[in-house]
Amino acid sequence: MPGKIADNNLADKGRRSYEWAASRMGIVEKIRAINESSQLLAGFRLGFCLHITKETSVLVMAAKSLGADIAICSANPLSAQDDIAAFLYNRGVNVYAWRGETESEYQQCILDVLAFRPAIITDDGGDLHSMAHQQEAKDIVGGTEETTSGVKRLVALERASRLLYPIVAVNNARTKYLFDNRHGTGQSTLDGILRATGILLAGKNIVVCGYGWVGKGVATRAKGMGAIVTVTEVDPIKAIEAKMDGFEVMRMSDAAPVGDVFVTCTGQTCVIRKEHFLKMKDAVILANAGHFDVEIDIESLYNISRYQPVQISPNIERFDVNGKRLFLLSKGRVVNLVAAEGHPPEVMALSFANQLLSILYITKNHDTMEVKVHSVPEQIDQDVGSYALDSMGIKIDQMIEEQEHYQHSS
Ligand SMILES: NC(=O)c1ccc[n+]([C@@H]2O[C@H](COP(=O)([O-])OP(=O)(O)OC[C@H]3O[C@@H](n4cnc5c(N)ncnc54)[C@H](O)[C@@H]3O)[C@@H](O)[C@H]2O)c1
Repeated sequence: MPGKIADNNLADKGRRSYEWAASRMGIVEKIRAINESSQLLAGFRLGFCLHITKETSVLVMAAKSLGADIAICSANPLSAQDDIAAFLYNRGVNVYAWRGETESEYQQCILDVLAFRPAIITDDGGDLHSMAHQQEAKDIVGGTEETTSGVKRLVALERASRLLYPIVAVNNARTKYLFDNRHGTGQSTLDGILRATGILLAGKNIVVCGYGWVGKGVATRAKGMGAIVTVTEVDPIKAIEAKMDGFEVMRMSDAAPVGDVFVTCTGQTCVIRKEHFLKMKDAVILANAGHFDVEIDIESLYNISRYQPVQISPNIERFDVNGKRLFLLSKGRVVNLVAAEGHPPEVMALSFANQLLSILYITKNHDTMEVKVHSVPEQIDQDVGSYALDSMGIKIDQMIEEQEHYQHSS
């Protein structure tokens, strides 16, 4: 069986985690049940580049039971959960992933997924799409993208007229970003910080960089745990929004001497950099929730540190900047996936329901889809919302005829 994983003996542990996640991801299970008899993915090779978590295993197993052949690698060198990788490998998925890949191993795993010659690729961050484009992507008829940073890269390819196949931007479905980016990352980022450090959040000054969907989630959850939250932004409207949501808003250079914990949530590079490190208090904590490890300028942190960083525990490194201790979590990589286990299953059920339905949509429509970045079809977004409400046992009103008419009257 082609693939490369850390330890096959972990498969049974992975199976139990899969079963636990599946029990909380009824929406994906429902889509699987509705479509299983028609085997819509039979004959399709899918290539996945996703964080290998128990929730991802629910998506993979659902796609597999609809007939797909699947190869998967991890969307981050540090985020793969080895038990889940072993479980999937034992279920006939070509898995190329283990926790703690080097940068070159990470790239090789992506190449291995492309060597599987997938027809549809599902990515989180755009590394698989990017590599597919370097190889001219001859077998690929379409793809999906899970996160904001990945969609940004694909839109850039489209603008440069270099996009080679249609993409469905799953991130941009309302049933994705309103819940995954905000509630999922909000909760799991604090989970990651707490698992890594065990600190008390109440009374701490927490600086949240970026007040997009992820930043809103992190700021709100931190406030809920008693932290005093400051937001930094570059978008004036988001900044007003943060202010009116009850947060302090200031420039990073002003927030640097104030914060006890800093969390980057921007999808941008060098958001916290040398000039900021130099102003920070002793014993501050630096964490990143954005997709790439570029938001905290780690290179300059290494350069200005008086000593080699000291590894305090698996997810904490201590730097020394002018006699002040700065603690970096998870090497500046997505803290919720490296120090914790990523989003809760309930939220990934929404994201992965969008993924599965978008993959099915591509199988049916790729011949006629324009080569561009598409929104998730509105019907899919609505269906995912309805399935979610059903799974929660919530009923909502429907517009009566008079209201439909009123809505559309001039
Ligand atoms: N950790 C996770 O599990 C997870 C989940 C979803 C998204 N993400 C990633 O998180 C990042 C943010 O995603 P999002 O959906 O919130 O994006 P978004 O576009 O909604 O928000 C980003 C915000 O950051 C602001 N910003 C940009 N540069 C800034 C700077 N220098 N200083 C302060 N603010 C700045 C922008 O104005 C914007 O409001 C992306 O990299 C995305 O891929 C991570």
